[in-house]
Amino acid sequence: MTTSIDIKRVEKSKISSVDFDNLPFGSVYSDHMLTCDYKNGKWQSPKIEPFAPFSLDPSAKIFHYGQSIFEGMKAYKDAEENILLFRPTDNCKRLNKSAERLVIPPIPEEIFMDGLKALLEVDSDWIPKNEGSSLYVRPFMFATGNGFHASPADAYKFVICTAPSGAYFGGKVKVLIEERYARAANGGVGYAKAGGNYAAQFYPTQLAIEKGYNQVIWTDDNTHQFIEEAGAMNIFIRINDTLITSPTSDRILDGITRKSILQIAEDNGIATEVRKISVGEDVEAAKSGSLKEMFGAGTAAVISPIAGFGYQENDFDLPELENPYAAKLKKLITDIQTNKSEDPYGWRVFV
Ligand code: PLP
Ligand code: COI
Repeated sequence: MTTSIDIKRVEKSKISSVDFDNLPFGSVYSDHMLTCDYKNGKWQSPKIEPFAPFSLDPSAKIFHYGQSIFEGMKAYKDAEENILLFRPTDNCKRLNKSAERLVIPPIPEEIFMDGLKALLEVDSDWIPKNEGSSLYVRPFMFATGNGFHASPADAYKFVICTAPSGAYFGGKVKVLIEERYARAANGGVGYAKAGGNYAAQFYPTQLAIEKGYNQVIWTDDNTHQFIEEAGAMNIFIRINDTLITSPTSDRILDGITRKSILQIAEDNGIATEVRKISVGEDVEAAKSGSLKEMFGAGTAAVISPIAGFGYQENDFDLPELENPYAAKLKKLITDIQTNKSEDPYGWRVFV
């Protein structure tokens, strides 16, 4: 490690108050956080300090112009208590891609990786060992610089917080294919993990929930005829024995789970296609019985099977399969992530 990091530890850990057998997703936080400020044109030395609220000026640009981006990753512990990360430098690269789009200065990869590893060492007792649980890691950056002038701020904060977490979704989800709203547009920020993208999803998702669905399937903003993402996940559709996912674009997040699943599927004899999928094709396949599975893929939810979908006031159920690709691929990817199988790809990083 080359980054010098000041570490101030909590006086008393709150870990004994946490029920590790019943972890929610992302709402119990570990003792410490990493913070690093950008001011006077450069990133300062990172610090590890007790998890606590920030104090911000009401004129900070985050509040007015939404310069805020984040990442989502997970840390695991294997049977020998080694701490593992999954493709973490890809998250750093994507954070900096988002930063470029939002005119936030990029965080040096050394600060990101050294800071993350040091934080995980300090809070290593917070990494759950139970199957299905992990330490969700949330790196984020936002504008602390002030002014009502609509222009990029001159000061930012980079933070990493962690949360021991259980499953994101309780079971299979029912989704609604979106016909009116869009989460992203050509030339926009859909490919970035900008906080505002998620805020824009809440209203259409709330409408879908009121109709009895759990999530929205996003379609292209122009025609609403092509399936693009599943809530805050990439989408996979299995027609007969082929697994299909949409190509990434300005509007679609280049998911780390998505690209890992594509590779693992190919290497395990599952045919894959990266191409546009029309809503019509999905509906026709559901009607003819060739639609076998749909699932979302992302860090938080890993692989989330879809039980059925709604479109134009009709509901379509997906079949209950004995050996779905979703379960097979979920096992293959989580075994790599948790050091239960070989990692032929070199994706695991030991802390
Ligand atoms: N799509 C969106 C909009 C997301 O927010 C996420 C979550 O990070 C994903 C896809 C999946 O990306 P990843 O697999 O890198 O977590
Ligand atoms: C993730 O999958 O890590 C995400 O960032 C999705 C999030 C909105 C919970």
